[in-house]
Amino acid sequence: MMRTLSAGAKQMGKNDLWKYSMAAVASVGEMLKTSLGPLGAYKVLVDYLEDIKVTSRGVKILEYLLEDYSPKYDKNYKPVRANPILKILVEGGLSIHKNLKDGVISYAVLSGALMEKAAKLINEKIHVNTIVKGYKMALNWALEELADIAVKITPSDRETLTGIARTTLAKSYLGPSSAQTLAECIVDAYTTVVENTSTGFRGFEPEKAIQIVVKAGGYTLDSRFIKGLVLENRLKHSLLPKKIVDAKIALIDDHMDVKRTKWWHEIKISNAADIGVFKKEEEMILERMFENVRNKGANVVFCKKGINDKLLYLFGRAGIMAVRDINAADFEMLAAATSSKIAPTPDELQESDLGYAEVVEERIIGAENWVFVEGCRKPKAVSIMIRGGAYMFADELKHVVKSAITALHQALIEERVVPGAGAVELEISKRLRKRALSIGGKLQLAIQAYAESLEAIPKALLESAGVDVLEKLATLNALHKNGELGACFDVLSRKLTDAYREKLLEPYSRHVIILKSSTELVTQLMRIDNAFLAGRRSWGELPKVSEQSTEYSRHAIIGEPGSYPTYGEPY
Ligand SMILES: Nc1ncnc2c1ncn2[C@@H]1O[C@H](COP(=O)(O)OP(=O)(O)O)[C@@H](O)[C@H]1O
Ligand SMILES: [Mg+2]
Repeated sequence: MMRTLSAGAKQMGKNDLWKYSMAAVASVGEMLKTSLGPLGAYKVLVDYLEDIKVTSRGVKILEYLLEDYSPKYDKNYKPVRANPILKILVEGGLSIHKNLKDGVISYAVLSGALMEKAAKLINEKIHVNTIVKGYKMALNWALEELADIAVKITPSDRETLTGIARTTLAKSYLGPSSAQTLAECIVDAYTTVVENTSTGFRGFEPEKAIQIVVKAGGYTLDSRFIKGLVLENRLKHSLLPKKIVDAKIALIDDHMDVKRTKWWHEIKISNAADIGVFKKEEEMILERMFENVRNKGANVVFCKKGINDKLLYLFGRAGIMAVRDINAADFEMLAAATSSKIAPTPDELQESDLGYAEVVEERIIGAENWVFVEGCRKPKAVSIMIRGGAYMFADELKHVVKSAITALHQALIEERVVPGAGAVELEISKRLRKRALSIGGKLQLAIQAYAESLEAIPKALLESAGVDVLEKLATLNALHKNGELGACFDVLSRKLTDAYREKLLEPYSRHVIILKSSTELVTQLMRIDNAFLAGRRSWGELPKVSEQSTEYSRHAIIGEPGSYPTYGEPY
């Protein structure tokens, strides 16, 4: 018999790989949908080192799927590959996260729904290519409608900006008032930095300008915006002053120590007396550094690297605060916050390099020491300090704050937003159904299926709130039919409401990216009918999919309880 595959190579399916793709994508969507929205459930992720993470963020869960579904060896110690389908799905999610810092669950839920509806159509003997064509057409229409639904925003409208931040923040069981507090902090931080950046919001990178520090413990309501920065450093000498008011700040990029100075090459000590000379020399170098800093008028020194203990003592005695080992990202931000110029070496410090802050102070929060730099003039970098809960949840908060800053930034750049809380999906769905009527035959069915899939988002949100999903959905659909574009169900207030009025707003591009990526993923996967694997590795196990079934159980990607999660028997 003629060999078509190289020695040891295997094929994954029997030219029906899309069945497995459907099973995998549909079950990932099914699994993630309970984590969607402000009331979305957390998942516990335990990795192979028994490290536990509690999260409701899509990207974390997807990353975990990929990691854990790449067992290196099967039970016969044969090397195993990750399921390529999952990999494609996860990579799509990661790329969305890179752009939006958000939206991954919606992407997975929508992809899952599109796959599930496609599977139904295939069972009704509609050809894959027809579905692909219909989905692509539906996507184009959906994008047209999305652009039509989007409304313009005014950058100076603070209430709208806070609304955008709050809608993205609404996660991790943040109560409405905590979400409002944090949203205010975000808008304060963002607008402060933008005001002082000559290029405005178009030319600035929020990641580099807004520091987010998380401090577990306390209440989220205690979170605040700091017109300056918070450094995770402590003062390393007891003589150093704990607080400086009216701070003149020097930033030194290099070691403040003897050994690293550029002019010292080699010192040979041949007799005891020379040790004294050597010591003296060392002291002189340190003193020169100290004198230079003091003479230039600095009363606070931040050094990116180490500061010699003796020098710390000299600073302390002179009432100058000195902080060493500042991490590189914080150091750059310090320069931007305090308008200081970084001196490459201690000797090169100039008076004009000094920056300013109203107060620099070491404070102890919880059991940790932090250095606060506050009251900066026209800062180009600022900080948001988040308090709240156990560390795991506080860390979750940090990520949603990042998402919210990105959403705000995105919305301002585009100057347009769309209504969130499922309103935009319902509206597009309604419009697609109507437009599909102009097209006959099987293509129409595919477009209808696409429209139905969009409802998966509002449905999942309603489910998370524990309300009667079908009843609420019917009411919402009726409202949209009556021309209420923003009709939605606010799961936090548990009321039917208007997303525009409540400022439940999201950046336009979030939805463009989610729609495009999920449609692309699904149509691509439907067109892949087989996969080949070279060499001796095995695929691991494939999901079990029965011939007729459109019911994709979780077993498609999750093994029986207690077993290592794999994919059923190898082909
Ligand atoms: N108060 C609210 N009521 C209902 N839905 C909300 C509310 N706030 C935000 N949402 C919706 O929650 C969804 C975002 O949920 P999230 O878990 O962050 O998923 P994603 O990973 O897709 O961003 C969006 O559809 C958003 O409009
Ligand atoms: Mg989100």
